[in-house]
Order: sequence, then C-alpha cells, then structure tokens
Amino acid sequence: MYINFWYPMATSEEITSYEPARITVLGLKFVAFRDKEGEARVLSDTCIHRGGALGKGWVRDGCAVCPYHGWEFDGSGKCVEIPTVAKKNIPARAKVDSYPVQEKYGIVFAFLGDLPEEERPPLVEISEWEQEGWRANRLFVFEVNAFYERSIENGLDPSHNQFVHPAQGSPEMNPDLKRKPLEMGELPWGSKFIVEFANKKTGTEALNEEATTGVAEVFAGSGHIGPNQMITWIQFSEDNKFHQYFIEQPIDESHTRIFFHNMRTFLMESENDDRLRKVNLVVAKEDIAILEELDPVRTPGSATREVLVPSDNAIVAYRQHLDEWEAKGWRIDMDTLRANRGNIAYAIPCPARRTEKNWVLDPVPLLPPAAPALKEAKRA
Ligand code: FES
Ligand SMILES: [Fe+2]
Repeated sequence: MYINFWYPMATSEEITSYEPARITVLGLKFVAFRDKEGEARVLSDTCIHRGGALGKGWVRDGCAVCPYHGWEFDGSGKCVEIPTVAKKNIPARAKVDSYPVQEKYGIVFAFLGDLPEEERPPLVEISEWEQEGWRANRLFVFEVNAFYERSIENGLDPSHNQFVHPAQGSPEMNPDLKRKPLEMGELPWGSKFIVEFANKKTGTEALNEEATTGVAEVFAGSGHIGPNQMITWIQFSEDNKFHQYFIEQPIDESHTRIFFHNMRTFLMESENDDRLRKVNLVVAKEDIAILEELDPVRTPGSATREVLVPSDNAIVAYRQHLDEWEAKGWRIDMDTLRANRGNIAYAIPCPARRTEKNWVLDPVPLLPPAAPALKEAKRA
C-alpha cells in the first residue's frame, strides 16, 4: 500500500458535524467530521495526549473531542482546548496530522501523504459528471474481503469476463485479438487498454437490451490512475455507453471498500437506476466470489510465482507503476508496521510535517526508495 495518493474515506452523508466517523484506510485509523463551515476534515485518529481514539469521541463547535480527557482538535489538527490547561499554555506538540480533503461525486477524499499540492497525483476526474447526455446512477458502495490491488487487477483483466460474468452474457474477447498481446496506452499516473468483445447477445439483454440489439461487437477497456482508481469504458455503439469508476479504499491488507459510480448515455429515465443497480450488484458478486478466494491474498512479489501471459499485459503495466511509486519511497513497510503494532502508534505524515516540527506520532514506516532487494518483497 502506498502513501501520497487520494483515497476515498467515506460517502458525503457519512461525514457529519455531530458525530465523528472512525475510518481505517491503509491499515491506519482516521477520524472524519465537518467543521463549523460544514467542510469535511480528516485527521489521524490517535490522540497525542495518551492515545485516546478521537473517532470514538464527539464533535463540538467543529472540533473533534477526545473521549478520554476532552482535548479538542480543530480541522487543521491543532489542539485548541485542554480542559486542565490554560489556553495560552497549550503545548506546541499538541497537534495531530490533518490531511487535505476534496469532496466530489458524493465522496469525501483525503490525500494521505505529505506531498505539497503541486506535486500530488490527481484525483480521478469523472468527466461525464453532470454533463448533458450522461446519467449517473446512485453511488454504490460495497466491501470485499480481498486486497485492493487484486481488485484493481481484476478490473484490468479482459480475459476473465468470459468465465466469471454470465450476468453480462459471458463476453468473449474478439477471437482475432484474444491471442495477441494486449496493447497498452498511457494515462497520467496510469495505463489503459481498449479491446473488442464479440457480443453473443445472450445474457447481455439483462445488462442492456435496447443497446445491444443488432450490435455485433462491443468495445470495452479499462485503465487505472494511481494504485486505487480504475475506470472501465463499455461502448455498445456511438450512442450507448457505460463509463464506470471504481474508486477503491484499501481498508487494510485484506479488506477493501469500493466506491462505484456508473455513468451512462442510455436508459436515461430514473426508473432504470434500480434495474441497473441490481445488474451491477450481480456482476460485482461474480467478481467478489473469485477475489475472496485468491491465494495468496496479496499478489506475490515475484513474477516467478505466477505464469503471466500477454493477455495479462494490463496487470503487468499496473505493477510497473506500483514499482515506480515504491521506488519513490511511497510504499508502506507493512512488515515493520505489523511487527510494531501495539507498541507504536503510527500516522501517515501530513503535508504540514514538511514545514513544521514537533510531531508526536512516528510517521508510518516506508520501504526505502529504489532499494534493489525490494523486488522480492511482499506486495502489500
Ligand atoms: S487521551 Fe485524548 S485527551 Fe487524554
Ligand atoms: Fe469482472
């Protein structure tokens, strides 16, 4: 798992000004709430007084209040009230990490890392959002007992649909393309591919009868932006398209929460939302049944422990990007984190750590940048 990317923390409705939300992402705990202006705020969950859980406390006047001794932290992470200390004597060290937040598409995102704004990788842009001719289905959120990289790789895999997705009509890649290496293209902070599927017009009616009638081929492809954002483009014809956004929250090394937006250019009436939602749920369940049984849970660190073929090119490209981010020193050292659990409370370093001193919690351990031995390390 990697610091220095945007991660979905919760839906907009889940973050309130009266109750803190305690959220685990990248194996660490965060607290999210709304300040007096109604802006969503995300802080490290561990109170630096004596380890209380801010997410188990309450929100007062736009501040997170620790349930243990009532210390109050504002949205910037600064302690603004200690009931037993005069305001002017609040120690400079009394602060927790506060993360940049963006609220978009009904989701509260936090940038979990310390990069200054101009260096940050982008939040995925849903370019069809509120565009004429496009309809968004209600945000669909679900949890999977699987590692998020396995889930992203599943989305980047055009050869599984034929076997895993009867609900989509078991779409088969065009036989002419099937045995050719998957051709990859670049995206900023990611990669993509588009392929042609032979439309068998069997179960696809369930997905979209009117769009597939008389259509012989379907173009579809996927791409990823960063480690945890995946897009799928499905084009039945010029006028009939699905664009799907899977924005993934790695809860920890074996659990993932997926925020899914489905944009479409057909079946525009609202009464179709529920129908499509049900189909999406069936398709998601087909994927989940496979993902939750994968062994090992996390992708092996070495390609010698798998047999990758040219149709896995998108997965190879994804892993190359992960290796690049590891080389930058952004990959969390999970072995150290796990070994110290219970003895050391860690925080993802926030951007203010670059300019201010006096931080109480240790920054999360990271693998050293570009160490050659890392190729063999576990991918987690
Ligand atoms: S541990 Fe939070 S106020 Fe004491
Ligand atoms: Fe799938």
